[in-house]
Amino acid sequence: MDTLEVLTFLVWLIASVTFILALKFLASPATARRGNQLGAAGMALVVTWTFFTTDGLLANWWIIVVGGAIGSVAGWLGAKRVPMTAMPQMVAIFNGAGGGAAALVAVVEFLRDADLHPGELLPLAFVIATLLGAIIGSVSLTGSVVAFGKLQGVISGRPVKYPGSQIVTAALFLAVVGIGIYLAAVSPSIPLFLLFVAISLVLGVQLVMPIGGADMPVVVSLLNSYTGIAVAATGFVLNNYALLIAGTLVGASGAILTQLMCKAMNRSIFNVLFAGFGTGGDAAAAGAEGEEQLREISADDAAVLMAYGKRVIIVPGYGMAVAQAQGPVRELMDLLVARGVDVQFAIHPVAGRMPGHMNVLLAEANVPYDRLKEMDEINEDFADTDVALVIGANDVVNPSAREEGSPISGMPILNVDQAHNIIVLKRGRGAGFAGIPNPLFSNEKTTMLFGDA
Ligand code: TAP
Repeated sequence: MDTLEVLTFLVWLIASVTFILALKFLASPATARRGNQLGAAGMALVVTWTFFTTDGLLANWWIIVVGGAIGSVAGWLGAKRVPMTAMPQMVAIFNGAGGGAAALVAVVEFLRDADLHPGELLPLAFVIATLLGAIIGSVSLTGSVVAFGKLQGVISGRPVKYPGSQIVTAALFLAVVGIGIYLAAVSPSIPLFLLFVAISLVLGVQLVMPIGGADMPVVVSLLNSYTGIAVAATGFVLNNYALLIAGTLVGASGAILTQLMCKAMNRSIFNVLFAGFGTGGDAAAAGAEGEEQLREISADDAAVLMAYGKRVIIVPGYGMAVAQAQGPVRELMDLLVARGVDVQFAIHPVAGRMPGHMNVLLAEANVPYDRLKEMDEINEDFADTDVALVIGANDVVNPSAREEGSPISGMPILNVDQAHNIIVLKRGRGAGFAGIPNPLFSNEKTTMLFGDA
């Protein structure tokens, strides 16, 4: 091993350590920014090192510099300008770009090797890694673009299905597997390889179109994991350990996140991908509370009830994000704290529409982290709480989750119904993401404060 190789390994090692530490720091809102910067610095180190030390790259410096500049400016502006509510679609489109990049690397490597050794079989490990990079990266690219379109409202958020669509998906999948085996075992034909990539791109669209818009965050997290695997495969193809490790970390953490989200919603990933109960929530199920009498409370009375309480727990949900009410919610907290009220926030793991949605919004409004309590940490405290103020949350406080036969049976919920008084702030009788009635609203301890959060 010459000095350059040793130094390259060292750079890979340092970068990999920063990636692992970045993930560790990202686990808490207090250290997340530092984690993000650390991971980015590690990645910048590897990219710069690779640029200056890999044969042939410097000769084509202008393509890399121009491409890098366009990507950096687009990424920087996109991330700076995106409103917090549009974060899931931004993650989707950035993830698609990652998947597409991994697929392109696989395509270029396959075409180059097939061209260099016409008619010869390519080494099996190389072919498997390239084909995996190409198929998973392509699925991730087009799947993420569809997810972006659904979240952004560019295409319908409703599940788009047609008769026999699952048979078409299965046929496409079998075609890709069949062509892949042919390319690996019989001949690395370039036209067939291009067909392989084209079918993979269609497969991404075909897989995500039938899923409802509100399930997209789970799908994006899954596609994120796919991108990681595709990147790891290209790391193998390019013999670049930093890429291999970064891809593996993304693949594994994306898979864990997907699993955690499914668990918090008490649904299997199979259910999200192939059944789905959410098609956009509120609008779909307006009026789902039936015509039951709900007791109303005025804002003044709600204020008095909270101001004279000892402990108030605020439960934010998707409606708070829609209304961008985190700033006023923080002001409310300040006023109550100034009066000596103990104020905590109860955060359900899937409140809102993306992982950490409530934490991010409340952190943006400078709510101190120590007031944000995870569900398991705070659930016992509701019984000893004067007022639970539910702001635009619905499914995550729906007691029917404790009963058999409900679509959300078994989903862990916040025990809001155990509080002495419950105030629910929402616009009307709209249902939540699951589209089902919520008996909490007609509970004798509950009063409704109707309005935009
Ligand atoms: P939801 O159950 O979606 O309920 C939100 C409620 O907010 C609605 O009932 C709506 O009622 C109200 N609302 C909407 N706009 C409002 C506004 N401007 N002001 C006040 N209220 C407003 O919310 P949740 O309790 O946070 O539950 C999240 C749901 O999303 C769960 O079912 C979860 O499984 C699902 N989900 C979550 C994720 C992640 S990762 N977080 C991903 C996918 C799906 P009105 O129309 O009457 O106002």
